Amino acid sequence: MAHLAIAGGQPVRRTPMPSWPVWNQDEVEAVRAVVESGRWGAQQGTEVRGFEAEFAAYQEAAYGIAVTNGTVALKLALTAAGVGVGDEVIMPGYTFVATATAALEIGAVPVFADIDPGTYTLDPASVEACLTTRTRAIVPVHLGGRAADMDALMALAQRHDLVVIEDAAQAWGASWRGRKAGTLGHVAGFSFQSSKNITAGEGGMIVTNDAAMGALAHSLSNCGRQPGGLWYAHYVLGGNYRLSEFHGAILRVQLRRYPIQLAHRQANAAYLEQALSEVDGITTLRHDARVTSNAYHVLFLQYHPAAFGGASKARFLAAMRAEGIDAMHAGYSLPVYRQPVLLAPNFGLATPPLFSGVYPAIPDYGKVTLPVTDRACTEEALWVRQSVLLGERQDMNDIVAAIDKVQRYSHELPE
Ligand SMILES: Cc1ncc(COP(=O)(O)O)c(C=O)c1O
Repeated sequence: MAHLAIAGGQPVRRTPMPSWPVWNQDEVEAVRAVVESGRWGAQQGTEVRGFEAEFAAYQEAAYGIAVTNGTVALKLALTAAGVGVGDEVIMPGYTFVATATAALEIGAVPVFADIDPGTYTLDPASVEACLTTRTRAIVPVHLGGRAADMDALMALAQRHDLVVIEDAAQAWGASWRGRKAGTLGHVAGFSFQSSKNITAGEGGMIVTNDAAMGALAHSLSNCGRQPGGLWYAHYVLGGNYRLSEFHGAILRVQLRRYPIQLAHRQANAAYLEQALSEVDGITTLRHDARVTSNAYHVLFLQYHPAAFGGASKARFLAAMRAEGIDAMHAGYSLPVYRQPVLLAPNFGLATPPLFSGVYPAIPDYGKVTLPVTDRACTEEALWVRQSVLLGERQDMNDIVAAIDKVQRYSHELPE
């Protein structure tokens, strides 16, 4: 008789894992108050301005500029930091596509460096190998909520006179040696898209301690207006990237709830990592005392097929789902440099991108191979969802029990 549920046995669990978003009557009341106030835009209301101040204070940064999403936050942060047409921007190959497209949209050129196999964040040695005379910036991604090695990356940036734009899309409350994400580089972009640990469905924020970058980012997000200027006077090439009061109101509620949720996720992540240290074939990322707060948008696990009878990551995940454990997924299945958009002529558009004629040749991303990134995408990385880390100890125990069972009976995994 089969043991594994995927082969016809009984599943470990029959109840769903905790889901996302988490909300209550506070969000409902906050939205209702905005509706009834009649002040729906940030120019009239106080919710977006309040959220900017509260989130910047939470990140211990001087300036916060709310925008429509994290992609826009990165694009405007790059521009505010002086990155433009033809400038090379070094970033990890293992990230969401927006890290790269934010640069491409302003005519800058993404250059992909590999990640450290023990942290899944930028490997400073690989960044160093990517430097050219056209390098202008580094974009460390605090992937999954774990800060990149900002000591090494800031030292490298200083030596080569580069700006550092943190992709902090997943790093609310994350810190490195006690300093919060968003204050570690020159400027940063955060996301509040629907999967994120603080969300209003969409939303983003630029965070910086640099007054000039903050002022420019604000102007860029508000049609090029300037403080004190006439409403219909526009001074720089910006756009309308403003967030609505509805978003601001929800995000303020989400932020109030956040510190307790963060501590809850951190406690469950520590418990799960400890429990999984007993399980063959699943490893966790390296512990580093300099990562003083991990936001755990994702708890990364590393899957080693040899310990599961050679079963692929996809088969392992299918077996876990059959056991009733929809707690993890495969994450990015393609490195950014293998995304069809980066391989298509003119990036899939009818006309060449902005940097044609400035840059000697559009990079042939098809030639890029980064072994650690490739391995993470194809066979190794497992992403435990942030919502699951808001569960109870029993939920964590069920995950461990299911992994253990799938391993013990891996010979039952269908071909
Ligand atoms: C690492 C990373 N960068 C950038 C973004 C872009 O954020 P958004 O989806 O809000 O545009 C996201 C989120 O989706 C992300 O995870």
